[in-house]
Amino acid sequence: MENQYIIKGGIPLRGEVTISGAKNAALGILAAAIMTNDTVVIDNLPDVRDINVILEAIQGIGAIVERIDAHTVKINGSTITDVTIDYDSVRKIRGSYYLLGALLGKYNKANVSLPGGCDIGSRPIDQHLKAFRALGATVNIEYGMINASAEKLTGNHIYLDVASVGATINIMLASCMADGRTVIENAAKEPHVVDVANFLNSMGANIKGAGTDKIRISGVTKLHSSEYSIIPDQIEAGTFMIAAAATKGDVLIKNVIPRHLECISVKLTEIGVNVEEFDDAVLVSCKNRLFHTQIKTLPYPGFPTDMQPQIATLLALSDGTSTVTESLFENRFKYVDELSRMGASIKVEGNIAIIEGVEGLTGASISAPDLRAGAALVVAGLVADGYTTIDSIRYIERGYENFEEKMASLGASIEKIPVDDERAVQKFKLKVS
Ligand code: EPZ
Repeated sequence: MENQYIIKGGIPLRGEVTISGAKNAALGILAAAIMTNDTVVIDNLPDVRDINVILEAIQGIGAIVERIDAHTVKINGSTITDVTIDYDSVRKIRGSYYLLGALLGKYNKANVSLPGGCDIGSRPIDQHLKAFRALGATVNIEYGMINASAEKLTGNHIYLDVASVGATINIMLASCMADGRTVIENAAKEPHVVDVANFLNSMGANIKGAGTDKIRISGVTKLHSSEYSIIPDQIEAGTFMIAAAATKGDVLIKNVIPRHLECISVKLTEIGVNVEEFDDAVLVSCKNRLFHTQIKTLPYPGFPTDMQPQIATLLALSDGTSTVTESLFENRFKYVDELSRMGASIKVEGNIAIIEGVEGLTGASISAPDLRAGAALVVAGLVADGYTTIDSIRYIERGYENFEEKMASLGASIEKIPVDDERAVQKFKLKVS
């Protein structure tokens, strides 16, 4: 049964929230975990749909996957019997392409269905394939599958045309047990790239320079067991920062790495939000009306594309004219029409959203077009006057753990109810009125 969120807006968020592990790091780490025949224990795993899908895919090819609790999993890849991941098991997630790098790196052979994921624009994987070929693999795309195989993989010098997160992680996976040395130039520097490198190193890989644009990988003959805790999710943390600011609240966001949030904190501070950093927490509060600014999404340490819809929502409620330029994905403004239905004044010209700040938003029935846009619309609903219902929340559930519960714990009036259940709507309204 499809669910939707129902929200009564206008309540400032207050209190403490704990951020889960990083989804996009976890996807790479879970793929990497099958590269050893020893047992690996991974902790701080976010309990979200994308993660469960990749775990099922890993189990489907024969790996032993033992869920110790919602956030901890034990994986043993010694029992893998198959290197084919079909469409049904991974069509819903983008991170399935990491199984290509992991299986190719371990078995010199992988057949993985072309990835799905959020519809945020055309999402080529030419850089991944170019890199596999540079390492000595033959790569063909046939009947919706990517088939890669190699007699043996040999290290090489790979220059990425774009600093792709996915390609950088995939090259680390495919090359960490290759013969000799691989160098990735123009590598992505995102925190989750570093986390996957750290995990691979904890299994005995030799990867240096992750977090800079030049990563050097010396192939090792085998990887071994490890126990590893995934970093906190930068984007989930950023989303709660924006929710705190937009509702004029006061929220302590715990289990974060403040350095990873600087690209967001700096912009929030610039428009008038108070952001106080602690060792592993940030306190975000806001009392006054905020100012306009210019944002351009860029690879890390630039402003993240995954925070673009959320900051645009905040700017829609800030004084003056702001611009938000999306430079990574061409189709990431699909939430704008929904925000406009709530009273926002936003015009999109090419890859730039021109935002005229309005005094407030009003509740409406809207639909989440993708993961981050969906989260941004929840923030809009939390601010809006009256009731908002948001459907297609399966997108949000792909990447945010217990989103509505965490918001509710901060005082928000939000509930998950079945779509088309008028009685549930009335019950919610009675409860909160
Ligand atoms: C990752 O996607 C994330 N997904 C995305 O998160 C995130 O938006 C994106 O990185 C940017 O930070 C996962 O980690 C599973 P890219 P990815 O390769 O790896 C172009 C979310 O909401 N490109 O860094 O697919 C590409 O078109 C999601 O959690 C090529 O041209 O992104 C884009 O313009 C959505 N050829 C740019 O590079 C390639 O071979 C960056 O893409 C690969 C990418």
